[in-house]
Amino acid sequence: MTHLRAALCMAAVLSAGIVPAATVAADNDSIRVTVDAGKPGATIDRHIFGQFAEHLGRGIYEGVWVGPDSRIPNTRGIRNDVVAALKAIKVPNIRWPGGCFADEYHWRNGIGERGKRPATLNPNWGGVIEPNTFGTHEYFDFLDQVGADAYLSINVGSGTAAESADWLEYLTTPQPTALQQQRAANGHPEPYRVPILGLGNETWGCGGSMTPEYYTDQLKVYARYARNYNTRQAMRRIAVGPDGSHTDYTEAVMAAWKNKTWAWDIEGISLHFYTVVKFPPTFKSVDFDENDYATLLKETRRMYDLLKTHGDIMDKYDPEKKVLLSVDEWGVWLAKTPGTPDGFLEQQNSQRDAVIAALNINAFARHADRVRIANIAQMVNVLQAMIFTRDEKLLLTPTYHVFKMYVPFQDAAFLPVQLEAGTYKHGDIEVPRVDAIAAKGKDGRVWVALTNLDPHRAATVNVQVPGVKATRVRGETLAAPKFNSVNTFEAPETVKPKAVNAKASAVTLAPASVTVVSFE
Ligand code: AHR
Repeated sequence: MTHLRAALCMAAVLSAGIVPAATVAADNDSIRVTVDAGKPGATIDRHIFGQFAEHLGRGIYEGVWVGPDSRIPNTRGIRNDVVAALKAIKVPNIRWPGGCFADEYHWRNGIGERGKRPATLNPNWGGVIEPNTFGTHEYFDFLDQVGADAYLSINVGSGTAAESADWLEYLTTPQPTALQQQRAANGHPEPYRVPILGLGNETWGCGGSMTPEYYTDQLKVYARYARNYNTRQAMRRIAVGPDGSHTDYTEAVMAAWKNKTWAWDIEGISLHFYTVVKFPPTFKSVDFDENDYATLLKETRRMYDLLKTHGDIMDKYDPEKKVLLSVDEWGVWLAKTPGTPDGFLEQQNSQRDAVIAALNINAFARHADRVRIANIAQMVNVLQAMIFTRDEKLLLTPTYHVFKMYVPFQDAAFLPVQLEAGTYKHGDIEVPRVDAIAAKGKDGRVWVALTNLDPHRAATVNVQVPGVKATRVRGETLAAPKFNSVNTFEAPETVKPKAVNAKASAVTLAPASVTVVSFE
């Protein structure tokens, strides 16, 4: 870590109201958490709990789409069990159709009578046939069933501005144009709502290897012509932004935005950062040791450096924070599960990954004034998934449970927390022992999320909210027999939340656990 990065990291931690791990002795077993309910900060946008569903492996086909004739219970071809599970975590938006897939996707292949759609290829992900059975109308039907917003990613890499402009007109115009009539003939006369539009994906990589200068020129064209005609729905346009710690796209896109003309605009830029250490991914998703556990927790905390680094650049051009940061790909990317096809990105999901999910969400919440969209990669059967499916069976992962426990944080007001974090050490690795965020929920309650990173020591936490008369806390805790425990189809409830009903002065956090409570 350079001195600069260390300084940035320290500043991020201090501004979040947390005592940096390195400065706190706290090897004690009682940790004090003080919530300042009198100083509500930015709203934690529910869209930071977004999902990402790419045409990749078994993410869409099998994971979402089984077809109307399937023996698996479905509504118009979409799995009922998956919809029910996603509704329960109040998914705010689903980013689709990719990822790298989006920049090779031609939307016209995915409309019209299903049996007559062309078979195409998916060169990014295993080179398999893409049947185009799940296309525009199926995606919007799925969103309706889940109750989520669209986050559509248009093809800047291999498409044209005309193709994207047509897709947006097809989707959003209420007027009787030829494209509207085609939409009506395909079953949807009313315009669709497209609240979030991604203007390309990773154009610095799989989306066309464009220099920042070339991309910003493209951006101006697409931001102008990919128009939203649905006056009942504002559309936020998200430009491609940084790849991890690289700042060239952040500088170029924000400088272009600062000098924008009447002819184009954007409302956000994206950041992609995976907990992976290096590509190709080698960390195992099962039977891993403490070294892996600690290394990936430390790597996850790099998210703070990135939010600070890119946030500072954005502040330089946009001190009023009009342009949002959309962390629209995040999560732990591990070695593929042995025996699964190359390019399908299937991995198990452990208690460690639940801890990683909580740490990332906490980072976004601490930057709620800038980070207003985020999408975990990915939703079903791919990478750090919420859900695994096998034929008619569905399995909820530890990460799913974290998303469910954090529902009260959706659109809640961030509250500063003073925390004696302590330190968890493993070899040369040091991270805070405990992490905590708090918020005032839409239900009027103060909610606290507590993560114990230490895989050996339980922690007793004394939660205080000066001015709030409360003696008890209630909520749920997600703990597991081991930090590498997983749920399987044979043992689906090894990791599942348990009720917490404790004195506010004595909330016990099991080793490597996530707890969310509110005050009684
Ligand atoms: O999530 C898998 C892939 O990771 C996405 O398609 C791409 O955008 C990123 O590199």
